Amino acid sequence: RQDMMDHARQVMTDNDRGTYTVPTHGLYPFQWNWDSALSALGFSQYDEPRAWTEIDTLMAHQWDDGMVPHIIFHQPDDGYFPGPDVWGTGRDVPTTGITQPPVAGFAVCRIHDRAKDKALASEKARALLPKIHAWHQWFYRSRDPQSTGLVALLHPWESGRDNSVDWDAAFERVPTEGVGTFTRRDTTHANPAHRPTDDQYRRYIWLVQKFRSLNWDNSKLHDASPFQMVDPGFNAILIRSCHKVADLAGRLGMVEIAAQSRAMADKGVAAMETLWDEKLGQYLCLDRTTGDVVDSPSIGGILGVFAPIPKERAAAISRRIETLAESCEYLIPSHDPAAPEFEGLRYWRGPVWLIVNYMISDGLEQAGETRMVDRIMGDCLRLIETSGFAEYHDPITAEPCGGAHFTWTAAMVIEILE
Ligand code: DGY
Repeated sequence: RQDMMDHARQVMTDNDRGTYTVPTHGLYPFQWNWDSALSALGFSQYDEPRAWTEIDTLMAHQWDDGMVPHIIFHQPDDGYFPGPDVWGTGRDVPTTGITQPPVAGFAVCRIHDRAKDKALASEKARALLPKIHAWHQWFYRSRDPQSTGLVALLHPWESGRDNSVDWDAAFERVPTEGVGTFTRRDTTHANPAHRPTDDQYRRYIWLVQKFRSLNWDNSKLHDASPFQMVDPGFNAILIRSCHKVADLAGRLGMVEIAAQSRAMADKGVAAMETLWDEKLGQYLCLDRTTGDVVDSPSIGGILGVFAPIPKERAAAISRRIETLAESCEYLIPSHDPAAPEFEGLRYWRGPVWLIVNYMISDGLEQAGETRMVDRIMGDCLRLIETSGFAEYHDPITAEPCGGAHFTWTAAMVIEILE
């Protein structure tokens, strides 16, 4: 255990660039939005000022409309594609023009609530909550224009689950015309068999070019996008963050933020019901462009449990995970191993991700599903013991995949061991 902890801290230190961390050297040489928020949880266990700095840096690059970008390109690096020239967002410190799962609100509240340095925590939280809240409001304004209570993703990179099976059918409708030739760099750092396909990359880039042609104007992007995906996992992260912010803002006397956050969270929880699938016992995605439910047994619908959903829903999700355990060695596979599309090594089409295990376990814990939590946490540690601090792992063989020496994997191990 001590060895594992030392190793985890070493990974964090090696990827620390002073005011932000890179997810891993080479493959991801900049600051990523949700990576930073989850990594801050790890830092906070042994260095609270460093944890706050991580989130301060992220939020310092928030756009005027409230959006917090998915990548901040702090310094040039030719080893990554698509870089700042492809995005063309015209910022002083370049960023991408799309966002990522808003887990920062959750992280700020958790770090605050368990802080040893209470004075620092309350100073930081007071400064950060209005910014986080503006981001949450941006979501419901820009990504839920019909006010359904659920936001849509406009690019698979926003989901964090880039090449999930969930997007396949919708992604077929994203064109590739007009996308010039380009050279991927990810496949020089990681095994191509662990990464998205070239065809997917062409469509990723088509969407970037489309949004760029609209000057990254978020009042236009939603309706103009051929990809509008309502992901229960993503929405659960947003709802849970709103819920936590409501609670903390209330305690800090920030009454308006508290009331507005509470209203957003409540509306979101109610709307999540429309995504519930009784047959599978989990949530499913909704393709907003067609109105079709996406019948795909992926982890996005299990991550729904991160939101404060009804207890019987959480219990059903726990049973659903029990069923998945019958076809894998390590929980929780990002796609059902019994489904034909499952690929144990390929990014979000099968592998286990510790950060998702952490959020799902946290939701299960809130609902009192503690036996399942112990099992998932045990699987996480067995995976790391067997295969090290990889980006993700094969749920059947434990083969380490993607990037090695990975910051948020280390951060989650620190969280589990503490
Ligand atoms: C990548 O480059 O693979 C990232 O997932 C995009 O954020």
